[in-house]
Amino acid sequence: MTSPTPAPGSVALITGGTGGFGRALATKLRALDVTVVLADLDSERNRQVAKDLDSHFVVLDVTDRAANQAVVTQVEAEHGRLDAAFLNAGIAGKSRETLDVDEFLRVVDIDLFGVVYGTEAALPALRRAGGGSIVVTASLAGLSPMATDPGYSVAKGGAVAFVRSMAPRLVGEDIVVTAICPGFADTAIIDPIREEFEKAGFPVLTAEEVADAMIAAWTSGEPGAAYIIQPGVGAVPYKFKGVPSAKTRSGETAVVPEALRPPGMR
Ligand SMILES: NC(=O)c1ccc[n+]([C@@H]2O[C@H](COP(=O)([O-])OP(=O)(O)OC[C@H]3O[C@@H](n4cnc5c(N)ncnc54)[C@H](O)[C@@H]3O)[C@@H](O)[C@H]2O)c1
Repeated sequence: MTSPTPAPGSVALITGGTGGFGRALATKLRALDVTVVLADLDSERNRQVAKDLDSHFVVLDVTDRAANQAVVTQVEAEHGRLDAAFLNAGIAGKSRETLDVDEFLRVVDIDLFGVVYGTEAALPALRRAGGGSIVVTASLAGLSPMATDPGYSVAKGGAVAFVRSMAPRLVGEDIVVTAICPGFADTAIIDPIREEFEKAGFPVLTAEEVADAMIAAWTSGEPGAAYIIQPGVGAVPYKFKGVPSAKTRSGETAVVPEALRPPGMR
């Protein structure tokens, strides 16, 4: 993926914006003269992070559907437009051995429904801006499920499926929806397992490498693409294998009914 730069003066919203990826992304976007709004849980620390990064802060719990809409309304009111929404907030599960359904639901609520609500909220503003981009932070776990974290795997797999489902219908409106699928990266989310990587000499990504891929997904991402980011590999689009098409009684490949195809393929 190449990375032309976003137009200076563009406005970007980053959910989970004061975390590791959010901070790295905000730093790079501010250097490109993008107005950055970091949306995250309310804390003094998070407000200070935004200030330190010359970015704006808005309080957002991404599981609150109405709050997602209020944040986008605020961004438009204060900055005039929204060009890119990075739906990046996320947590991982902690129960590696047992299926903890309460934890499962909490992870899916944040990592999947947070993305759905964020998309719902951002779309009208992106339309008003004449087009734009939604970049969803999924995970490699969304393509290759982790046996130690079923909730995370389902949420991230769902996020990838959501991106692939939404993208085709928005192409005609110049709104590009993509997912990034990083492998393990050096942020607070891997604190509980960091030692295991160090002991095994297992390479992890830097947040900066992921932020570069997020920017490239904004500026040159293909609609519906899921970009894998791995140490030593860089950012590459995942090649979905597809499924066998239905055959008619006479053995020909059946054509999907027009109403079920995305607008551009009717
Ligand atoms: N670091 C990795 O190894 C890795 C790999 C693949 C994907 N990811 C994904 O990247 C995204 C960013 O994570 P990170 O690595 O920067 O970790 P991080 O823990 O540093 O950042 C996550 C951020 O999300 C915020 N957040 C959590 N719950 C929230 C909620 N309900 N509403 C709003 N914000 C909330 C946190 O406050 C935090 O700022 C997450 O979606 C994560 O699942 C991380």
